[in-house]
Amino acid sequence: MFDKKASTRYPINQLLASRWSGRAYDPDKYLSGEDRIILAEAARWSPSCFGDEPWRFIFCDKSCNEKAWHKAFDCLSEGNQSWANNAPLLIIISSDTIFAHNDKPNRWGNYDTGAAAMSICIQATEMGMMSHQMGGFSTDKTRELFNIPERFTPMAMMTVGYQVNEDSISEDMKERELAERKRKPLDECFFDGEWGKGIV
Ligand SMILES: Cc1cc2nc3c(=O)[nH]c(=O)nc-3n(C[C@H](O)[C@H](O)[C@H](O)COP(=O)(O)O)c2cc1C
Repeated sequence: MFDKKASTRYPINQLLASRWSGRAYDPDKYLSGEDRIILAEAARWSPSCFGDEPWRFIFCDKSCNEKAWHKAFDCLSEGNQSWANNAPLLIIISSDTIFAHNDKPNRWGNYDTGAAAMSICIQATEMGMMSHQMGGFSTDKTRELFNIPERFTPMAMMTVGYQVNEDSISEDMKERELAERKRKPLDECFFDGEWGKGIV
């Protein structure tokens, strides 16, 4: 197992630093039923606007529901299929566009759902697994195959599983998998009191 910790100016929480979007999964290592519930609990306790909990997660685990896993896999873009085939768990993430308490549009549903998805990523890191969120999938096909109601928006899909040994990473994946992680400079996105004035 190799890690690609974030390079930070000062130390940050170790789980945040350690999470990264790996693609090389071990095809022989599966999650347990308990593991799946732990991931769900991590997302369930996320904050949300009006406590609406607008997220819906469909877990498609190859080990116990191969049919659902294949259906989810078929919804992915070709590029994502090229590496996601070894991931034991695919999760379809949708968000509600309408508030439950007053039937008005919920303009924070996607925001809340993204935060809940990140909680799964962090929990997976804590459990020694990798996660990788994906926007590259067909929303129409996903909606149709999984009967997602009209008011919900399929936002993303996610892979979760265990990293394969570094020696077993295929040559075509190696360069991308081992590449250094990069971010924009701090002062490009983080401001001090006014738009554009870098925090550092
Ligand atoms: C909403 C969202 C959609 C993404 N879509 C894809 C995707 O379709 N395919 C892919 O390989 N990575 C995808 N990624 C992963 C990003 O490329 C990755 O998070 C980014 O490069 C930063 O790398 P890191 O997560 O390892 O820090 C997506 C990430 C997010 C949050």
